[in-house]
Amino acid sequence: MDCSLDVEAVRARFPALHRRQHGQVVAYLDGPGGTQVPQSVIDAISRVLEHGVSNLGGGFGASHDADESTTQGRLAMADFFNADPSEISFGQNMTSITFAVSRALARTWRSGDAIVVTSLDHDANFTPWVRAAQEAGVEVRIAHFDPVTGELDPEEIASLLDERVRLVATCVASNAIGTLVDVGTITELAHDVGALVYLDAVHAGPHRLLDVRSIGCDFLVASSYKFFGPHTGILFGKLDRLAELAFYKVRPAPSDPPDKLETGTQSFESIAGLTAAVDYLAGLGDGSNRRSRLVDGFSRIRAHERVLSARFLDGIAEMDKVMVHGVPAADDRRVSTFALSVSGTSAEAVAGHMADQGLYVWSGHYYALNAIERLGFLDSGGLIRVGFVHYNTTEEVDRALEALAAV
Ligand SMILES: Cc1ncc(COP(=O)(O)O)c(C=O)c1O
Repeated sequence: MDCSLDVEAVRARFPALHRRQHGQVVAYLDGPGGTQVPQSVIDAISRVLEHGVSNLGGGFGASHDADESTTQGRLAMADFFNADPSEISFGQNMTSITFAVSRALARTWRSGDAIVVTSLDHDANFTPWVRAAQEAGVEVRIAHFDPVTGELDPEEIASLLDERVRLVATCVASNAIGTLVDVGTITELAHDVGALVYLDAVHAGPHRLLDVRSIGCDFLVASSYKFFGPHTGILFGKLDRLAELAFYKVRPAPSDPPDKLETGTQSFESIAGLTAAVDYLAGLGDGSNRRSRLVDGFSRIRAHERVLSARFLDGIAEMDKVMVHGVPAADDRRVSTFALSVSGTSAEAVAGHMADQGLYVWSGHYYALNAIERLGFLDSGGLIRVGFVHYNTTEEVDRALEALAAV
C-alpha cells in the first residue's frame, strides 16, 4: 500500500491554489495565518445556504437541517480530537472562546491564587488570562521558552507550579517559530498540583492530529480556518468542567454543555464546512472509521511536511545572511513553520520582495508579541514567517529559497 501523500491530487482539490500573479501560480506560504479550503468545503457551505437555512430547534425542514449540521459538526470534531460530541462547542473564533472561558474560570478564582501562561503563546492565549487574573486579584506567572533552542521545557513550567496555581495555559505549537510543546507532560505536572490545563491547538491543527484523551487536558481550542475549513472556532472541554462553569449567557439559551457557551446563533454554514474539512483530511488516509483515517492521513501529512522542512532548512543553512529562529532541525520538536531574519533587511521588506514574486509570507509579530520580543525583534519590525502545510510542494520550497537568497 502506498502511504505517501499525492500532493498533485491534493492541490487539484483546492481552487485557490491555482491563483496566478503575472502569469505564475502563487505560492501560499502563509498557512500559519490561515489555510485555503478544498472544493468540498466550499460545496458544503454553499449547500447550506442554497438549500434554505434556519435556526435551531424548529419544527420544520430547514431548522432540522441546522440541528443536523450542528450534530454532524460535533461528531466530526469529536473524531478530530478523540473526544465525545457532548464535549465540543462552537464559537466565532479561538480568541472569542478564550475570552469567554477565561471570564467563566476567573469567577472560580480567589485572591492569592495564581495562573501560569507562557511567552511562546499567541496573544489570544495570554491576554485573556492576564486580564481575567488582574480582575480577580490573581498572580500571573510566565513560563519562558529558550530563545536559543526555541523550546519550552516542561521543567520551566514545573518550577512555577505549586498548590496555589489554578490554571496552566499553553500552546500545543507556536504560530511564530513552530515549536511543538510537550503538552502531555505539562498536563500531568499541572494536574499534580490541582491546576486545570487550557491548550491552544490553533497552530497545531493543520500539522498534528491531537488526542485529548491521551493528553488529558481540561480544555483545548482550535480554529477551523487554520486547518482547511471556514472561519469558526471550536472548544473541547471535559464534560464535568463545562458543566460546573457558569458562562455568561442570555436567559432562554441552553444551560447545559456543550451549547451553553455558544452565545447567539452559530454559523451553520461554517459548521457544515468544518465537517467537510475534517472529512477531507480523513480522506487523505485509509482506515475503517473516520478517526483511523484521520490518524493515517495525518501521518502522511507529517511525512510530507518533514520533507519540505528538511529541504528548506538545508537551503537556509547555505545562506550566510539568513537565520532561522527556533528549533534548527526538521524533527519532532517542531512543525513546518519558520521564523527568519535576513541581516541588513527588514522583515517587511523581505516579505514585500517575496510577495512581488507571488510568494505569500507574513512578516511582523503575528500576534505572538511575547515570543518575538523574547527573540529580540519586536522593536525592529519582527521576523519573516514562512509556513508550509501539506498542499505545499518542494518546488515552492525552492522558489522561497531562491527569493531569500536574492534579497
Ligand atoms: C496559535 C494561535 N492561537 C490563537 C490564534 C487566534 O485564533 P482566532 O483567529 O481563531 O481567534 C491564532 C491566530 O493566528 C494562532 O495562530
